[in-house]
Amino acid sequence: MIVINTKSALQNAVGEYKAKGKQVGLVPTMGALHRGHLELIKQAREENDIVVCSIFVNPIQFNNQEDLEKYPRFPEQDIAFIQDFCDICFMPSVEEMYPSAPTEKYDFGALEQVMEGAMRPGHFNGVCIVVNRLFELVTPDRAYFGKKDYQQLVIIQHLVKSLHLNIDIRPVEIVRDVDGLALSSRNKRLSAQARKEAPFIYRTLQTAKDNSRYLNPQELQTWIEKQFAANKHFQLEYARIVNADTLQTIADYNECPSVIICVTAWLDNVRLIDNITIK
Ligand code: PAF
Repeated sequence: MIVINTKSALQNAVGEYKAKGKQVGLVPTMGALHRGHLELIKQAREENDIVVCSIFVNPIQFNNQEDLEKYPRFPEQDIAFIQDFCDICFMPSVEEMYPSAPTEKYDFGALEQVMEGAMRPGHFNGVCIVVNRLFELVTPDRAYFGKKDYQQLVIIQHLVKSLHLNIDIRPVEIVRDVDGLALSSRNKRLSAQARKEAPFIYRTLQTAKDNSRYLNPQELQTWIEKQFAANKHFQLEYARIVNADTLQTIADYNECPSVIICVTAWLDNVRLIDNITIK
């Protein structure tokens, strides 16, 4: 694996592979890599000749300065972790990625007016600016995104469609610890005690899925809210039962082909996000 820090070197390296007809898979990340990222990389490895992994803590997708400052960064460990699975690791500086303040504005309509989009104004615009710039530099055949950030996945699928990009967006299943906690770079910020409490999120989602057999979506949302309200360790930011394609809340499970429960909750000053597909 070669580590590249500049856009021009990245374009040259990828260009050489593309000239030889190689298929390129891109795995965009913000580092602090874990087994969830490795799953994205392994799937990219299986489906492409060349795998490019980008590691860049993208400042313009953070709407909270403290979250940006506290975001875990372990560049040397990250490189060692993916060394055997990737061909290129792209690690640009902020100046390299944004020589001047970015001004692109994307419109995702109703997709970004709910859940993460409503709670974190400008977040998805910042995500899509960096992702689209990476797409332009790498021109991948396929790009890999985890289902944990489900709304991000849907919004990136929308971006690719609306810009008519010839990139196959490949969703990858959530990877969980043995106790059910969805792997996330932010988990590294949990205290030992909080880490023990954290599986409550997925346990609640699993029971909620069972309860969907006899509670309608609104009743189910209320049931989830009550579980979190009764647990002093958590502050629930939102729980939503949504149409998995449009991300809009539903009144009846039968109104759409696929339904997902999305939750975001605070534990120990760390914002955790998870979801479960119920249909
Ligand atoms: O999911 C992430 O880690 C980030 O949002 C992404 C897609 C790498 C863009 O910075």
